[in-house]
Amino acid sequence: MKSIVQIIQERPWVGWLIFGLTVVVVFLAGLLATSIMERRGETAALFQMVKPIADWEPRNEVWGENFPRQYQTYQSTLDTTFRSKHGGGAMIDHLEKYPNLVILWAGYPFSWEYNQARGHYHAINDIRNILRTGAPNETTLSPMPATCWTCKSTDVPRMMKEKGIGEFYKANWKDWGDEVVNPIGCQDCHDPKTMNLRITRPALIEAFERRGKDLSRATHQEMRTLVCAQCHVEYYFKGKEEKYLTFPWDGGTSVEAMEAYYDAIEFSDWTHALSRAPMLKGQHPDYEIYLTGVHAERGVACADCHMPYRSEGGVKFTDHKIQSPLNSIAAACQVCHRESEATLMDNVYSRQDKVIELRSRVEEALAKTHIEAKIAWDRGATEAEMKEVLQLIRHAQWRWDYAAASHGGTFHSPLESARVLGSALEKAGEARVRLAAILERRGVKTPLELPDISTKAKAQAYLGLNMEKLLAEKKEFLEKVVPLWDSRAAERQGKMNAD
Ligand code: HEC
Ligand code: HEC
Ligand code: HEC
Ligand code: HEC
Repeated sequence: MKSIVQIIQERPWVGWLIFGLTVVVVFLAGLLATSIMERRGETAALFQMVKPIADWEPRNEVWGENFPRQYQTYQSTLDTTFRSKHGGGAMIDHLEKYPNLVILWAGYPFSWEYNQARGHYHAINDIRNILRTGAPNETTLSPMPATCWTCKSTDVPRMMKEKGIGEFYKANWKDWGDEVVNPIGCQDCHDPKTMNLRITRPALIEAFERRGKDLSRATHQEMRTLVCAQCHVEYYFKGKEEKYLTFPWDGGTSVEAMEAYYDAIEFSDWTHALSRAPMLKGQHPDYEIYLTGVHAERGVACADCHMPYRSEGGVKFTDHKIQSPLNSIAAACQVCHRESEATLMDNVYSRQDKVIELRSRVEEALAKTHIEAKIAWDRGATEAEMKEVLQLIRHAQWRWDYAAASHGGTFHSPLESARVLGSALEKAGEARVRLAAILERRGVKTPLELPDISTKAKAQAYLGLNMEKLLAEKKEFLEKVVPLWDSRAAERQGKMNAD
């Protein structure tokens, strides 16, 4: 065999080639080293703590002293100006927009008031303002348990640490009014020592454990979704006294699996005021529906679209203005898609429009079903006759709510949303066929003349709701109780500063 020296002596160009390659390799290695150094410098700058942050520190402004860019963008979730065709952060009265919902939730406080979700910074104000939490004065209790605070505030993990998880949930919503005051923020998603993403809500960890999954082994990309799955999920309050926040995922996260879970434990959130069906209130299974969509299949995380990267003065950071990605298509979508903004917007709208068309038909059918069931009861229908009808209503509305309450579901997974809504329409239709037979046996002709429920006010009047009283009580609460809570919280947090 010839040695390399012999080869070079025979063909001098090989020598020059080796020399050239070496130069290129050294140059590239140099570039790589500089780039690594630069990135290290960047990260060090990002994590240079001006002031160390205590564990369970709830105040976003304290974290903000260390991380001004993330804090400023987080603060801009206060902005309510953006409206897309079906979403955005504006205050929109959903009962006004879809009056059928008043009928669907008859007998449950959702029929009093229900608004579109806004940015995270509004979470505390919005839960105080909503009629559903009631509580006119210092002594009356809220119709809601303390569990309702769980997805609203950075004070929740702090309180769970202090009081114990079970004790936290078990209290009345009013009991923690002067403790839970800082809106959703840094502490909910980050470890203050390392700034790594972390899960602070026990319900998610427990739900994974029951399915034999260890959350602490989640990948970094999975964590960029799981921090959102602490709150944007379906859940219920387990136990009449305990009100322990629980995700019904033991058999899976599909609409059928959760329905089977609730049926097996005979759980219901309330009994419908018109149809008397044992109802389930779907929460907001954003994570569960997202899992069935193409983006989840391709490993795209919630944060990829809702928290895209931004650059400022050469520093790359994560945009903490969590909002509708349609307000920032360039950053949120065009990192992966080459289509124009207009095309992408159109892609989203065309999917949403189709699903929402189907959803509206289900709402109409369900409202009619509840009213017809009430008429059947009024005409002396028996429990035995109504049993299956009520089960069909329960399942139809649960399926509708699963698809409707997942605010982004119409885009995250249009196919799954439509499939679920289709089965809801089928079940509502079946209930109406049976109701028609029950009514016919009593000489009532169908279709019935239905009441005018074409506006929120008309639908609420049909249910006999005393909205004036509810509104007056809320006003009293906001004027008398909330300032007390705020001054006590300010005093307590003032002491935290002194410590
Ligand atoms: C591929 C990008 C993408 C991913 C991934 C994604 N979303 Fe969305 N999300 C959207 C779009 C687009 C909308 C529709 C916004 C609109 O209608 O204005 C939306 C809507 C929402 C909404 C309703 C907001 C509004 O303004 O109406 C919520 C809440 C939401 N998503 C949460 C999540 C959560 C939680 C995850 C992960 C489990 C997630 N999203 C994953 C793109 C995404
Ligand atoms: C809803 C969850 C959530 C909240 C609330 C949140 N963050 Fe983040 N944060 C994230 C995610 C997701 C990332 C991206 C992490 C990654 O991919 O490594 C991130 C990244 C960061 C980083 C790393 C640098 C960067 O920009 O990527 C810092 C620093 C940070 N956040 C600070 C904050 C501060 C300060 C607050 C409160 C004002 C806050 N975060 C609130 C989810 C959150
Ligand atoms: C601690 C609970 C919690 C966590 C964690 C959380 N959210 Fe939210 N999110 C909420 C609540 C509550 C609201 C409604 C606030 C309101 O209306 O006052 C909301 C509202 C939203 C909205 C509607 C805002 C708008 O302007 O349209 C979007 C989008 C959203 N969240 C996405 C996310 C994403 C993405 C993550 C993870 C990176 C996440 N959320 C993490 C509780 C949470
Ligand atoms: C991190 C990369 C990534 C981001 C960010 C992203 N997408 Fe996608 N998107 C994908 C991938 C991958 C697919 C699957 C298509 C494929 O594999 O060829 C997809 C598919 C789609 C589809 C077709 C889905 C269907 O119904 O068949 C639409 C529409 C879409 N994306 C819109 C958006 C919009 C709008 C945004 C921003 C809100 C966005 N995407 C953000 C990677 C991304």
